[in-house]
Amino acid sequence: MSCCDDESSIDLTEIPYAPESYAPTIPANFPQLEVPEDNPLTVQGVDLGRRLFYDSILSADSTMSCSSCHLQRANFTDNLAVSEGIDKMAGKRSSMTLLNIGFSNTGLFWDGRVNTLEEQALLPVEDPIELHDTWPNVESKLRRHADYPTLFRKAFGIEKEEEITRALAVKALAQFERIMISSGNSKYDRVINGTDVFSDLELDGHDIFFDVNEDVTKHAECGHCHNAPLFTTNEFFNNGLDEVVTLNDFTDLGKGELSNKLFDNGTFKVPTLRNIEFSAPYMHDGRFATLDEVIDHYVTGGNHADNLAPVLRPLNLNDYDRSALIAFIRTLEDQDFLNNPLLSDPF
Ligand code: HEC
Ligand code: HEC
Repeated sequence: MSCCDDESSIDLTEIPYAPESYAPTIPANFPQLEVPEDNPLTVQGVDLGRRLFYDSILSADSTMSCSSCHLQRANFTDNLAVSEGIDKMAGKRSSMTLLNIGFSNTGLFWDGRVNTLEEQALLPVEDPIELHDTWPNVESKLRRHADYPTLFRKAFGIEKEEEITRALAVKALAQFERIMISSGNSKYDRVINGTDVFSDLELDGHDIFFDVNEDVTKHAECGHCHNAPLFTTNEFFNNGLDEVVTLNDFTDLGKGELSNKLFDNGTFKVPTLRNIEFSAPYMHDGRFATLDEVIDHYVTGGNHADNLAPVLRPLNLNDYDRSALIAFIRTLEDQDFLNNPLLSDPF
């Protein structure tokens, strides 16, 4: 396509607009995927969203995309303690996995500050420590691009290039994110479906994780907050990372920063443990490098704060119990998700 000074002069109506509904494969034991009425999943919308997700056209200097901080092989995190944006400025928090993000309906980000994926996707583009561009500039780059006008036409039926807007771009991004769903083929899922069995070590870890046995010395309480099938309840808690004298003393106030409720200070979203071995380092500030360090933390019962989650208490786990717990958590490994070609870089 040749380019043009008068963007609005290009008529896109010759290009067929026939969106096909997209039905993602969802494991049988998962909750229902809620999709907003004004943004149904379509083959064409998901395809556009996938390109935008991987395209550095969304950043000011064309060096970064969403995928720079959300890499498929890293379970859609970046494996850094805290993320770095285009100007190499370090953010204050760790990137979050996007696995099963469409099932997260209690607020997005570590502090829950936005409600929908559409709303969320507006933010990285203009964030000075992320993509550091402006939406008017990105919109104009997309309108002038050789392929995007056609792709927006196919996904949303626009008639002119100037109808390419941030509102449509974030709809497409959200559609792509909603298909980032577990394959249902982790060892854990296969055991639940009756097509595989846990080793003795994994089974003991399962029982410790979910407090199955009467013997409370073998309880780790993990399942209260990291519950099946998503391995998160999507709630917000203080899991005892920092010892504080008063609830005003957290360095990162987490959910409290926006709710202004003292009791929310230092509470963060419970992350999923699916594929967790690929999401290291751990916690909102990436303070723990390994699952061993995470278990060390929980074994202490967490540091004191007035809002420390009440289920946390010192755990009586020996070396065998700890390795069992980790072996069980590893059964959540989902290679099919990490290698799902539908989620990979299309360029
Ligand atoms: C510079 C790195 C960086 C880039 C680029 C980036 N993200 Fe993120 N993302 C993060 C970090 C860090 C967080 C957690 C931030 C927080 O809680 O304050 C996050 C959180 C999220 C979440 C919330 C997940 C949850 O469980 O609540 C979503 C969704 C998301 N990003 C999608 C995107 C999309 C879509 C793009 C591209 C438009 C993008 N990100 C670009 C680093 C990045
Ligand atoms: C009271 C609820 C609660 C319980 C019980 C709990 N967690 Fe967590 N977990 C959280 C919260 C909240 C976070 C995020 C905290 C943060 O980053 O500030 C978290 C984070 C994690 C992370 C890091 C995830 C990531 O993506 O960085 C791992 C791993 C983890 N928990 C494992 C466990 C294990 C194993 C157990 C049992 C020994 C357990 N949790 C018990 C609430 C809980």
